[in-house]
Amino acid sequence: MRFNSYAAKVLVKRVLLIIGGGIAAYKCLDLIRRLRERDLAVRVVLTKAAQEFVTPLSVSALTNDRVFTDLFDLDDEREIGHIRLSREADLIVVAPATADLLARMANGIANDLATAVILAADKPVLAAPAMNPRMWLNPATQRNVARLAGDGIHFIGPNEGEMAERGEAGPGRMAEVPELVSAIEKLLSSKLSAGRLPLSGRHVLVTSGPTHEPIDPVRYIANRSSGKQGHAIAAAAAKLGARVTLIAGPVALADPVGVTVHHIETAEEMLEAVKEALPADIAILAAAVADWRIDAPAAGKIKKGAKASPPSLALTENPDILKTIAARNAHRPALVIGFAAETESVVEQATAKRRAKGADWIVANDVSPAAGVFGGDRNTVHLITGGGAETWPQMTKAEVAERLVMRAAEHLAKTQISV
Ligand SMILES: Cc1cc2nc3c(=O)[nH]c(=O)nc-3n(C[C@H](O)[C@H](O)[C@H](O)COP(=O)(O)O)c2cc1C
Repeated sequence: MRFNSYAAKVLVKRVLLIIGGGIAAYKCLDLIRRLRERDLAVRVVLTKAAQEFVTPLSVSALTNDRVFTDLFDLDDEREIGHIRLSREADLIVVAPATADLLARMANGIANDLATAVILAADKPVLAAPAMNPRMWLNPATQRNVARLAGDGIHFIGPNEGEMAERGEAGPGRMAEVPELVSAIEKLLSSKLSAGRLPLSGRHVLVTSGPTHEPIDPVRYIANRSSGKQGHAIAAAAAKLGARVTLIAGPVALADPVGVTVHHIETAEEMLEAVKEALPADIAILAAAVADWRIDAPAAGKIKKGAKASPPSLALTENPDILKTIAARNAHRPALVIGFAAETESVVEQATAKRRAKGADWIVANDVSPAAGVFGGDRNTVHLITGGGAETWPQMTKAEVAERLVMRAAEHLAKTQISV
């Protein structure tokens, strides 16, 4: 089934490489290339000292991702931060693990980005020490290594051999790149990193259903959205391991299993609930939000015949939830997906909507009565991304949901850790 083949692709392993300030740092450039050749995702943190040996620019060119250097970079703390850097990796590799890094790690010190990430790690950590033999044999270093090994840190090397300094030889050479690659592969395939689902550790925010905009306490403006597609998306994201928050308009559906559901009625309530649910890694805004609401809903029931002519309803525009969430700010989810329900020129209108709203993707469907989408169990959608439009074959809403969520997981795995 399609779902499974997408799942296989998404199960990309992610390595967070922390490069320390030692001569052997240059070897990490080759290490990055070898890991990427194996389809591993590599993200790099450089210590301050490491930047004396390799530049962020060269590392970034090899990883095709930004390089992380500073704990106090405010943007990073809000957008990605040291906890998230740790959380998004399957394995943390410290190479070269300098005497200084080992000492700080052994003492639980977290005074820069590298050590803060390591201290926050809940994944295996592999250290490749590299230093002058006397530094390596120093009892302080040996104490630190023994303590770290006792804490469960994995070690590779150091090897014996010639040092960079002329006339120096002994234990302290960093393990060679092929040795590092095989140790990394072994750890990644071990039980330690097993059990991960494509959206494990991610927060997915979904909106679903219509909104009801009150005219008076008993009447409202609504639309024909059943919520079936949005609810199926929430369920599919939960199945893939995500923590899911579903903001649901009034629907006649059961809450999906394993999903936190907030029930709202109006567009304004939906926007508030969405904002409260942030931050999220992915936002999939499938709700059919009313474009307009009654400007001044009546406090009491509008009585028939109270006036000579029927009441006229003055409308005012509702907040644009998709545009608000897709705005480029610190709280923007990494992937924002909107829905477009159109009755004509579906792809053209959805393509224009993607640009106008600042969304990453738009899922467009034809909701003309002949298509039977509203309330039905099947859907024919077009996925509009920056790369163009794809038309998916007709399938059930559950299948659309699985395929969409898997694509989103795949996209996130690629872009967030530069796969
Ligand atoms: C030219 C030069 C080479 C160095 N090579 C190493 C080394 O191979 N291993 C090591 O532990 N320290 C080495 N150091 C010392 C570290 O750079 C220093 O301890 C630094 O504070 C390490 O910072 P970091 O562990 O945060 O990257 C070297 C220093 C210089 C100036």
